[in-house]
Amino acid sequence: MKTRMPSLEEVLGTPVEIDDNKVPVVECELMKAEDLLNKSIHMKIVEPIAFPVDLLYGEYRNLCRMYTASPDYVARPYAMIKDRAGSYIGYLVEKIGGKDLDRLRRKLLAPRDAADIRKNVLTGLAQINAQGIGHGDLDRSNIVAYRNREGALNIKLIDPAPSFNKTDDARNIKRDSVWLSDFSNDYWEDKDLRFASVKR
Ligand SMILES: Nc1ncnc2c1ncn2[C@@H]1O[C@H](COP(=O)(O)OP(=O)(O)OP(=O)(O)O)[C@@H](O)[C@H]1O
Ligand SMILES: [Mg+2]
Repeated sequence: MKTRMPSLEEVLGTPVEIDDNKVPVVECELMKAEDLLNKSIHMKIVEPIAFPVDLLYGEYRNLCRMYTASPDYVARPYAMIKDRAGSYIGYLVEKIGGKDLDRLRRKLLAPRDAADIRKNVLTGLAQINAQGIGHGDLDRSNIVAYRNREGALNIKLIDPAPSFNKTDDARNIKRDSVWLSDFSNDYWEDKDLRFASVKR
């Protein structure tokens, strides 16, 4: 028996679920029909050949876990997307109205903004790592900065690795001391507060 697909409205109203059997799913056709040019939703669609389905599913699940651990610093996942043949082709996630750090670093940041970014990245990561999970693919392009209502620069993490082993973040931070220190060399004065200070 064909189960009824939830409407997009129902999916977007559904709380994030991480239980395998409860992950909300939308059909690609449904999204087209509903014209998903809603500016607050980002559709991540992958090339199935380059991105096997279990990796896609793992990425979505890790995002759900991260969001549960740190809702203020992680983009909210909504649903997996299926094509007509029933294959997963992507997922829906909150669209952050801002720029990833890779693009942002090319512009001059006020010291206050740079400090806010640093503080927020550290806080989000600490919340996630405290739950025994991790992002697993940290780099500048996977951190999106945006201005909140008070005008301060905040960040949300996107695009995690399918694994959620917290040691991945520690390794990335060590190996890639470049990725954030680049940013700090240009703009950050207080060199003491680095990723090494993430509490684990
Ligand atoms: N939810 C989002 N809100 C705002 N911007 C986003 C969002 N998701 C992705 N982006 C932008 O798109 C870029 C690529 O997205 P993402 O990191 O999810 O894909 P990827 O797997 O790294 O693919 P690619 O190889 O194209 O970089 C990000 O670096 C960011 O600039
Ligand atoms: Mg990315």
